[in-house]
Amino acid sequence: MDHPHRAKASWPHGDEQVGDACKVNSAIDRDVDWAALRSAAVQAAALAYCPYSQLHVGAAALSEDGRMVTGCNVENASYGLSLCAECAMAGQLRLSGGGRFVAVACRSGTGELLMPCGRCRQILHELGGPSCLLDTPQGIRSISELLPDAFDF
Ligand code: THU
Repeated sequence: MDHPHRAKASWPHGDEQVGDACKVNSAIDRDVDWAALRSAAVQAAALAYCPYSQLHVGAAALSEDGRMVTGCNVENASYGLSLCAECAMAGQLRLSGGGRFVAVACRSGTGELLMPCGRCRQILHELGGPSCLLDTPQGIRSISELLPDAFDF
């Protein structure tokens, strides 16, 4: 359902259209420099503010127009207010020209692969759509596989 106050992102909805979007993204996947995304995520993690958990998290994404955007986690003394790296990256997507995420990698400061938390999967789904690709321990997978039946209205 369209909401009058919501600037709806333009990814397709409906099974056939999502299938088409996945085809588009598998074409894009061939052009994704995953090594560069992983490396940018590690570099972003080095800038994290994480005095409480000591876990440096970096996220890097390719936007549909070919930009690379990154983010790091920013913690808070009130632990629950801490910002995940993916949230900072969502802000960077908007600040650097908008558009959509097409491919995302998350890493710790030491290069370990980290998976986005549930909330961040929803954020990636919002700004990347169901066919947004994510680097996972099982290989490259779409957000719709990792967050089936995402909240939407
Ligand atoms: N964190 C992220 O940056 N992304 C996630 O998807 C999950 C968790 C951060 C938040 C906090 O600063 C640290 O990891 C430990 O939970």
